[in-house]
Amino acid sequence: MFAAAHRLVLSHVRRYCQKTPIKPIKLRISEAASGAELGAEVKVQGWVRSCRPQKTNLFLHVNDGSCLQSLQIVASSELNDPLLTFGSAVEVTGILKKSPHQKQSVELEADQIHVIGECNPVDFPLKVKERHSFEYLRQFPHLRCRTNAFSSLLRIRSEATTAMHSYFKENGFVQIHTPVITSNDCEGAGELFQVEAPSTGNEEDENFFSVPAYLTVSGQLHLEVMSGAFSKVYTFGPTFRAENSQTRRHLAEFYMVEAEISFTESLEDLTKVMEDMFRSATEHVLAHCAEDVDLFHKHVTPGHRETVDSMLKKSFPVITYSEAINILNRSSEKFAFPTHWGCDLQTEHEKYLVKHCGNIPVFVTDYPYDLKPFYARDNEDHPEHTAAAVDLLVPGVGELCGGSLREERLDLLRARLEEVGLEDIYSWYLDLRRFGSAPHGGFGLGFERYLQCILGVDNIKDVIPFPRFSHSCLL
Ligand code: 4AD
Ligand code: MG
Repeated sequence: MFAAAHRLVLSHVRRYCQKTPIKPIKLRISEAASGAELGAEVKVQGWVRSCRPQKTNLFLHVNDGSCLQSLQIVASSELNDPLLTFGSAVEVTGILKKSPHQKQSVELEADQIHVIGECNPVDFPLKVKERHSFEYLRQFPHLRCRTNAFSSLLRIRSEATTAMHSYFKENGFVQIHTPVITSNDCEGAGELFQVEAPSTGNEEDENFFSVPAYLTVSGQLHLEVMSGAFSKVYTFGPTFRAENSQTRRHLAEFYMVEAEISFTESLEDLTKVMEDMFRSATEHVLAHCAEDVDLFHKHVTPGHRETVDSMLKKSFPVITYSEAINILNRSSEKFAFPTHWGCDLQTEHEKYLVKHCGNIPVFVTDYPYDLKPFYARDNEDHPEHTAAAVDLLVPGVGELCGGSLREERLDLLRARLEEVGLEDIYSWYLDLRRFGSAPHGGFGLGFERYLQCILGVDNIKDVIPFPRFSHSCLL
């Protein structure tokens, strides 16, 4: 009697289960590969990185961008489909198991493989098992994120962004969204993109903002406004420069991390923040993206890890511009641009100085007054007249950061602005010196150059998703 009732209950349960099959657990590849849900029925979605049909079995590798690793899928060869090619989008369900061949590795024993989007291997510019050069991949900004190296780069870039924000949050800075469109030319270097609405033919509509407007070259002046209320502020956003130079370290659109700090006493207050930020962000990236960084340091730029480790081990030396010129003048190296006191430092000089100081980042301070923009603080020294400005030069790249104490003294600032005929345009900037002026300073770090520096990537176009430079604006 009891046994019959038991059988009846069991048959009801079985019938219920058949009607409502257990829904597979949807996992990202990173979760599946970490061994989560072993033994469970799971579903993963991604793009085929390799496909090996064998006599009885079919082996696939599927990647969804959540980590460098691809998940191995094992299926009966009956599930093979001619549309399962390199690059196709798939959905796979099956049981997650420990791999019998590789310890600590996980594989998915598939019971269903569904091709969601096919990928014609003849037309697809990425070829299976081929390691394409960065240069080749630059032609395909819409597809290069499907390669291991570029997807690693973009995960690192994302984590480095988080690292920068964390540094500022942990150190009491307020984030300011400085404008992208502005009517000022912060750097005064004339590398501005002008912004204008299309002409309607109607005179009244001409000149959208009523004043010339540009894409920002730096958020510094807006940050200076805010440092007058919050003491410590930062911004991290796109910056634009119409530079015609086709170099490995210039873009027309790049990201800049900028900080501004009130109540500074000397350049040391700035160099400390620059160095701390560099260290903290780099340690964060090395800890949180170990696998992706390893791919670069082992396969893309072998040997670069030692450079990074030595950058983090030692504190950054500080030399003055005048000392830098002496070092360069004494050098036996033949520079394309000869050096003398008052000259701008070129990339070749910056790279030489970095090597000279032990191939670690080096601060160069107190540049000639005439080389620096109107806002840089006058050191009032003689006979070599300098400004309290600082650049951070780093291995492989040269200038990574530029900053200065700002001229907070009304009379000196007004006189300098008058010299260049800008006192009316910058009357609001002079106001900051009239109403509660405090000594302050700040700096900007080129985010792409930072990534080049920690990963050893030679060309800046390979560390940004969609590079913009003269004669090129793909997509
Ligand atoms: O030295 P820069 O011109 O300094 C400023 O704009 C200051 N107003 C920043 C500040 O004090 N808040 O630019 C800062 C950094 C450079 O050191 C360099 O790393 C990067 O921005 N940079 C570029 N990166 C890529 N492409 C370009 N065209 C760049 N121009 C500057
Ligand atoms: Mg600079």
